[in-house]
Amino acid sequence: MRLLPAAFLALLAACSPAGDQAVPKQEEAAAAERRVAPILDSPDARDTHSYARPLEARVTHVALDLKADFAAKRIGGTATLDVQAKPGVKAIVLDSKGLEVSAVTDEAGKPLPHALGEADPDLGAPLTVDLNGAKRIRIFYTSAPDAEALQWLTPEQTAGKKHPFLFSQGQAILNRSWIPTQDSPGIRQTWEARIVVPEPLRAVMSGERVTPEGEPAEGGGRAFRFRMNHPVAPYLIALAAGDIAFQELGPRSGVYAEPATVKAAAAELVDTEKMIDAAEKLYGPYRWGRYDMIVLPPAFPYGGMENPTLTFLTPTFLAGDRSLVGLVAHELAHSWSGNLVTNAVWPDSWLNEGFTSYFENRIMEALYGPGRAGMEAALSFADMESAFTELGATAPGTRLHNPDETTEGGASGIVYDKGALFLRTMERIAGRERFDAWLRSYFDRHAFQPMTSALFLADLRANLIKGDKTLEQKLMLDEWVYKPGLPANAVRPDPKTFAPVDAALTGFKGGGAAPAQLWARWTTAERLRFLNGLPRELPQPRLAELDRSLQLTGSRNAEVLFAWLQLALANRYQPAVPAAERFLLSMGRAKFVTPLFKTLWAEDEWGRSIARPLWERARPTYHSVTSGRVEEIMKG
Ligand code: BES
Ligand code: ZN
Repeated sequence: MRLLPAAFLALLAACSPAGDQAVPKQEEAAAAERRVAPILDSPDARDTHSYARPLEARVTHVALDLKADFAAKRIGGTATLDVQAKPGVKAIVLDSKGLEVSAVTDEAGKPLPHALGEADPDLGAPLTVDLNGAKRIRIFYTSAPDAEALQWLTPEQTAGKKHPFLFSQGQAILNRSWIPTQDSPGIRQTWEARIVVPEPLRAVMSGERVTPEGEPAEGGGRAFRFRMNHPVAPYLIALAAGDIAFQELGPRSGVYAEPATVKAAAAELVDTEKMIDAAEKLYGPYRWGRYDMIVLPPAFPYGGMENPTLTFLTPTFLAGDRSLVGLVAHELAHSWSGNLVTNAVWPDSWLNEGFTSYFENRIMEALYGPGRAGMEAALSFADMESAFTELGATAPGTRLHNPDETTEGGASGIVYDKGALFLRTMERIAGRERFDAWLRSYFDRHAFQPMTSALFLADLRANLIKGDKTLEQKLMLDEWVYKPGLPANAVRPDPKTFAPVDAALTGFKGGGAAPAQLWARWTTAERLRFLNGLPRELPQPRLAELDRSLQLTGSRNAEVLFAWLQLALANRYQPAVPAAERFLLSMGRAKFVTPLFKTLWAEDEWGRSIARPLWERARPTYHSVTSGRVEEIMKG
């Protein structure tokens, strides 16, 4: 690890936290960039999902020096934390989950007393360290083989089948299973890392890739170094390691993937540079340097994860026709909403995901036109309506600011779709130009800082509404943010958006043939509208006709295949079972896996006799995020 020179450390300890006097040039630049982000002290910004007490003592910088052991499924070494404590505060509380801590010392190597508290199944255990005046502490530790943030893939679980693979997933509160720090989105930290992996693997992380090709490590393996000089929420520290190739996409973007996947990935992602340009034009400069992506092996439990400078992506978005790149627009948009301005606590995750879903749609409109964007927005509206149906039209779970919300992010139909609709409604009422100017300035004002619903409302009132009573009344802000249900001013999608599809649905429901010719010309959004608009109960011959005419079981598009399998399995349509089994054994994306198991489980012995043996085979291939959710279903 590039440890700071001793002279500089002494200096840093002697002067203010920013350490901005007479510092060697290089370090000066880094230190100046590493501004310490504030901690919010309002009650609604208190994180109940972390043991940290940041108003007493908080971490400002994390330096990792770790080695990955694929045989033991452990990553271990040291985490060196820079700490700021209030005068008189003697200890710092960190988060940890399953970590085996062998020692904690100060910078000089003097042991510091520390204690691991009682463990909670979700939150893990607090690690309390007596500071004894130390401003920098070092934790010697290894992660447990079942660390929830990490998935260790066997060579068989990769496309190349030759080398193992490792990736991490931090959001929401999983990073404490491999990094002993304060794991709370309101406690922003800069970080650096040195990661050793066995030859010939490559490691990549969600920060500047300082040694892209790595360097020989003492004791074998290759070491890769990284740094993030902007303070980020700790859930955004991410690592992947494996047989990873790289292909450039544009001057500041590229894609990493296994060699077998990288060409297809690059082809699907050709529009990335245009997306970055469009996003900047909308809401201001991209502040993270490079925007690269990594297409992970299919076990990755999410569609995408917005790790800064390095979005993580599922390979299930590779449809061959770029029809699912809304995912990329989404993760890119998080570079503003989420990564620049971050929910301080998880009950406000709509500030990340709702803003991002809105922004995603604006990027899609800029690149592909209002037609496609309007269709995608209408699908999002329908997802929101389904959430209201499922939860109850005025259930507490339909609030955007949801104090009971779990770290899983609540119902996506609320957090993502109702959240996006709120912004769309504000845009419509205030006018696009005025709204965009406000949103751009909001990202500027709060860059690299935490956000709450209350702060967002205060900013909106100060900088968009500015005392305009009529506008204030029209927006119904408090109802949108704090009340359940759908406010009366919600902007509804144009009912004509899917007119041809809706006509085809009426025809089919009336006994007509499956619309094979139309289908061939439809976009993915139209196909999804059609499949999801079909009656949930269909006789076998009608299912067979749909399958034959529209080639559904053989679809290459994971979203289309998923929508079809949901319908087919709910109707116990036997010919789709082998495809469902193949699909569930081929990827571990929770969005697809969980509902399909749920559907099978709901079909009594017909479905359960398929689900049980399938689960036995598939389970070892799934990430803990996915297997945890399926387990919940199969308990019931
Ligand atoms: N940040 C989320 C993924 C996430 C959410 C991880 C909650 C852990 C807890 C990411 O940006 C996301 O929203 N992904 C979506 C894609 C999208 C296009 C809606 C997904 O994974 O499906
Ligand atoms: Zn998101």
